Amino acid sequence: MNVEKICVVGAGNMGHQIALCAALAGYRVRCTDTDPRALEKAERFADTYLPERVAKGKLTEEAARQARANLTFTPGLEEAASDADFVIEAIIENLEAKRRLFARLDEICPAHAILATNSSFIVSSRIADVTRRPEKVCNMHFFNPALVMKLVEVVKGPHVADETAAVTVEVAKRMGKVPVVLKKEIYGFLVNRILAAINAEALYLYDMGIASYEDIDNAVVLALGHPMGPFRLMDLTGIDLAYHIGMERYRETGNPADRPSPVVVEKYVRGEWGRKTGKGFYEYGEK
Ligand code: CAA
Repeated sequence: MNVEKICVVGAGNMGHQIALCAALAGYRVRCTDTDPRALEKAERFADTYLPERVAKGKLTEEAARQARANLTFTPGLEEAASDADFVIEAIIENLEAKRRLFARLDEICPAHAILATNSSFIVSSRIADVTRRPEKVCNMHFFNPALVMKLVEVVKGPHVADETAAVTVEVAKRMGKVPVVLKKEIYGFLVNRILAAINAEALYLYDMGIASYEDIDNAVVLALGHPMGPFRLMDLTGIDLAYHIGMERYRETGNPADRPSPVVVEKYVRGEWGRKTGKGFYEYGEK
């Protein structure tokens, strides 16, 4: 199967950069969002990021011009998805919202189109059954910031056709990513399971008053060699995401240990969601 046109649904934290990765790889990309502000922000990002890469000597002017020409932002889901060969969903981490979207995508998209979800933890078998093409629905999970992080997790659930996984791996490679294939579905995949264990311990130490979040971050950076500590990383990926992941997990398992930690709930309620709101654990100048 030849993929030329990609639709990215959701222009938020992940979607806007996934769309750019695809456009830089030469795909014709349509990025859509129900929130016009998110769409505008994503377009503004593309319009500043590409010239900055040229100024830094990381991209030729021609490659930047081509990538920008490959990328369209549109509020209409139908316009964005009706001729797509491959769709990457990057909307809110809410199962019902994803199921509604995939049912609609199934109606809109060409029969050959693969529908991938960038969910951080929801396995695609929980979504695929709302479509008439479950064999073409899979997980394709990028990491934040998607323009920088090389890994992509491709999850081969029991319903996923070999060709779907193979095409998804090829798309990831063409975007310059290193795909890893999970042979079975598991909640949180590889990376977020490992990260969840680190975060749970970091939040426990903080909530118990053992150390400040700055010192816990320093410990992880300076002793374990991570590029950033767990609190700074939560600010990057979004404290709202940490909250939603915890709540979804808790709804599913009923295990109180899966609930988001007190400080995550507090920050979520206050709207201190990290870099995207200008304040999380740390303060950021510009939103
Ligand atoms: N968007 C795009 N590019 C960015 C960026 C951003 N938000 N932040 C940094 N960059 C780019 C810079 O432009 C720079 O590129 P070049 O070297 O090509 O010029 C490069 O990244 C390095 O940037 P900096 O020198 O400014 O900063 P740094 O060296 O501290 O790197 C970082 C920043 C890449 C974010 C690094 O700190 C890092 O790798 N942090 C860990 C990120 C991580 O763990 N991500 C996974 C999160 S888990 C997840 O994503 C799961 C999920 O489901 C949501």
